[in-house]
Amino acid sequence: MSGIWEERFSAALHQLVERGWAVAKDALPAWIVRELAEEARRLWHEGKFRPAGIGRGAGYRVRSEVRGDWILWWDEDAPTPIQAIYRAEIERLRQTLNETLFLGLIAFEVHYAVFPPGAFYRRHRDRFLTADERVISCILYLNPTWSEDNGGALRIYDPDGTTHDILPQAGTFVLLRSDTVEHEVQPTRKERFSVTGWLRRRAREFRM
Ligand code: OGA
Ligand code: MN
Repeated sequence: MSGIWEERFSAALHQLVERGWAVAKDALPAWIVRELAEEARRLWHEGKFRPAGIGRGAGYRVRSEVRGDWILWWDEDAPTPIQAIYRAEIERLRQTLNETLFLGLIAFEVHYAVFPPGAFYRRHRDRFLTADERVISCILYLNPTWSEDNGGALRIYDPDGTTHDILPQAGTFVLLRSDTVEHEVQPTRKERFSVTGWLRRRAREFRM
């Protein structure tokens, strides 16, 4: 592997292979994280977010007993300047993953998310029952100050039941396998901002 991205992420790629998930702190330049955080906060206060749902297509439902976050999908055809910069970073990650792990990733879908105080997301995996194109989930946290007392940790479950809590601190970047890794967002006590996206392969639609 060569290049800045690859060096910054080589430890994370090893973790991803070994246990299905990885955490990289300060993986991205701080100014990128700061500008994303400012944009997310502004769009949130402008009322642009919608309650997130589960499932998709005709099966899509908002169920606040499962997840209480609000989201704003990024428009791939009309990125803001800072969204274009983040997408370029993820593009380098996509190429690195394809070169090193042969994942056949072809696209990235991404949204901002806000968990208002009291919101949570119950234990789940990220792959839909009816389609299998989500391969790697990528979460970048945007909260300049965060302490354990604020709740809102990302809790990852290993297959043996061991848990790992990750605080949504600005600059912390999490990668996880969308098909296997169970995780949840613990109830937050403070507005919690993130950029959540999925690297995708070509879809194989199932008939149900
Ligand atoms: C999700 C999710 C985790 C987080 O949106 O699917 O699990 O820490 N998010 O925000
Ligand atoms: Mn998830």
